[in-house]
Amino acid sequence: MGFLNDIEPLKQTALTELKAAPDLAALEQTKGAWIGPNGKFTALMKQLGTLSKEEKPAAGKLINAAKVELEAALASRREELELKAALPKEPTDFTLPGRRRALGKLHPLTQVTDDIVRAFRKIGFAVADGPEIEDEYHCFDALNTPADHPARDSQDTFYLNTTDKRLLRTHTSSVQIRVMEKQAPPVRIIVPGRVYRRDNADATHNPTFHQIEGLYVDKNVTVGDLKGTVEFVFRELMGSDVKIRFRPHYFSYTEPSYEIDFTNALVKKMGKDWLEIAGCGMVHPQVFETVGYDPEVWTGWAFGFGIERIAMLRYGINDIRLFYENDVRFLKQF
Ligand code: DAH
Repeated sequence: MGFLNDIEPLKQTALTELKAAPDLAALEQTKGAWIGPNGKFTALMKQLGTLSKEEKPAAGKLINAAKVELEAALASRREELELKAALPKEPTDFTLPGRRRALGKLHPLTQVTDDIVRAFRKIGFAVADGPEIEDEYHCFDALNTPADHPARDSQDTFYLNTTDKRLLRTHTSSVQIRVMEKQAPPVRIIVPGRVYRRDNADATHNPTFHQIEGLYVDKNVTVGDLKGTVEFVFRELMGSDVKIRFRPHYFSYTEPSYEIDFTNALVKKMGKDWLEIAGCGMVHPQVFETVGYDPEVWTGWAFGFGIERIAMLRYGINDIRLFYENDVRFLKQF
């Protein structure tokens, strides 16, 4: 019978149309046109009855196989289109702010860091960043810290098990060097970041904590600028009753160097007159030489202080370890 030769080309056309259906409605229509009650393929099947006894089995087999194939193509296209229909019509921009605030709160250390950064931004400081895994050069040598300095001792520093003596940075001062290596003066940066020391954990020490480093390089920079800046930032953070005091100290990368003491009503309430809060000083000419800044032209100051220290003071927390335990009963209070 002639129609046997029609099966294959009809099936091919039907398959092509099913696969090309652009959406679910079009697919249903295509289905109707081929294998619905009045479909072209259904009509073909109806003709089976007109075949002779000898022809029927082979023809029936052929038609059934073709029908199974069409139904499979229909199901798979339907699945594809259903998936497509479930997707958003427009691409999603995951950087857009949410309509609701995310669940939970920012960690108190994050909140304090954000506040410090905000205060420095008001007076033109940019945030810089550097690696926590450092080399001895950036952490010590370039900061004018000699090889026999006790801070370099493996007692104080976490050294990595590498042949090139890499270490976990003991302070954010290493980022001063990294920034000056890359950038010509003037420089006005702060560096919030994590640091590591082999301190045994007790109420006021932890093997990892956070610092903020500051570096200001320009022409004719003075200690007065440094003191004014520190005063401004601490008043922003802790209120207008803050007083600052500089005490002479020693750091290898600054000359002169100072420790910064701080006081306000909170400190007095703790029964203390002053609290030591930071180290600072005028950038040592040797440090400028090392990074290729001309010390005859450029002047600058730097400071570094502990973020936990400030957070503990601000919130009246007396055990530093509370910050890292992530006990919800603690975190909920901020
Ligand atoms: N790096 C010092 C520390 O970890 C803090 C410090 C002191 C940073 C003096 C400075 C500085 O930039 O000038 O204790």
